[in-house]
Amino acid sequence: MRTRYNARITALGGYVPEHILTNHELEEMVDTNSEWIVSRTGIKERRIVNDAQVATSDLAVKAVARLLDDAKLGPDAIECVIVATSTPDYIMVSTASVVCEKAGLVNAWGVDSNAACSGFLYALTLGASLIESGRYKNVIVIGADKNSAIINYEDRNTCILFGDGAGAVLLEQTTEEEGLIDNVFKTDGCGKEHLIVQAGGSLNPSSIETINNKLNFISQNGRVVFKAAIEGMTQTCKEVFKRNDISSEDIDWLIPHQANLRIIQSVGDNLNIPIEKVKINIDRYGNTTAATIPLCLWDFKNDFKAGDKLLLTAFGAGFSWGASYLIWGKLRGDA
Ligand code: COA
Repeated sequence: MRTRYNARITALGGYVPEHILTNHELEEMVDTNSEWIVSRTGIKERRIVNDAQVATSDLAVKAVARLLDDAKLGPDAIECVIVATSTPDYIMVSTASVVCEKAGLVNAWGVDSNAACSGFLYALTLGASLIESGRYKNVIVIGADKNSAIINYEDRNTCILFGDGAGAVLLEQTTEEEGLIDNVFKTDGCGKEHLIVQAGGSLNPSSIETINNKLNFISQNGRVVFKAAIEGMTQTCKEVFKRNDISSEDIDWLIPHQANLRIIQSVGDNLNIPIEKVKINIDRYGNTTAATIPLCLWDFKNDFKAGDKLLLTAFGAGFSWGASYLIWGKLRGDA
């Protein structure tokens, strides 16, 4: 009989730029105030790249370097890399190609996946499928975004929310009942007008007009996204419970996409998961799009122990949303 493999996370790496953009600095840039930002979003500060030469791939490469160090592996050991990003270095030439080159992943092939804030969850399942097929022994899955490249720092609706960062996980084969167990994902383009970068793609190529009209930046209808995010994340988490015959009491840790503290709290409440079990770092990093979940896993990895049940959930542009259920296994670095 063919061996059945699961994909488990065995090493992690994360990186945020050193430069801190505080709420007080934003007060100087747009009509806002720190008290409003903290009470409405939970964000106290975010990290942004302040060097024009630094791209999304550079954030990803730094996260990969930390992951390889954590894994005690050389870059030549990696077979595949998937980069979830909606801020690729280029429209053509995948960010994964650049990451393979800069990180020295000489034996890996790579591909990008774009599902905005849900990107990492989707990429995690794609990577896990390669391992579950038995054809790959390891895959690095990265969530990385340089949101500062597509933010209009004159738009208070969006500039207070987003930050830059990258997180990476190493997936490896296991025959144990652990690792990524299940997911429920949804994608529906009817939400696209509410959270979008209008220009720079094939429909609206960049032009002087798109630049002048600020169509190359993120635009968002916050209230619509807010409501849809709570509903979408709650509903897919509940579907995961049902499919796997588990309940909120079985969950040790909820790792939600970090878009707004009030969204996170509402999802936790709707699922009856107490706040002590919810991992939150939005106060320090803001919304780093595809990077929020891997950055959270990396930030809090010392709190997770083998056998813990983790529920990951995200919502993003598209709309795209979903939830993944995984059982934490031993990391390479564990004694
Ligand atoms: N500073 C001060 N006031 C602001 C502001 C800011 N940065 N942004 C908006 N306001 C004002 C509005 O103009 C509005 O004023 P009015 O009542 O006089 O019209 C008031 O604050 C309330 O605006 P509203 O849009 O209802 O605020 P909100 O509580 O919904 O918070 C967001 C706005 C953007 C923080 C919130 O809607 C949100 O987080 N949405 C989801 C964002 C998200 O998750 N995006 C990523 C994809 S997952």
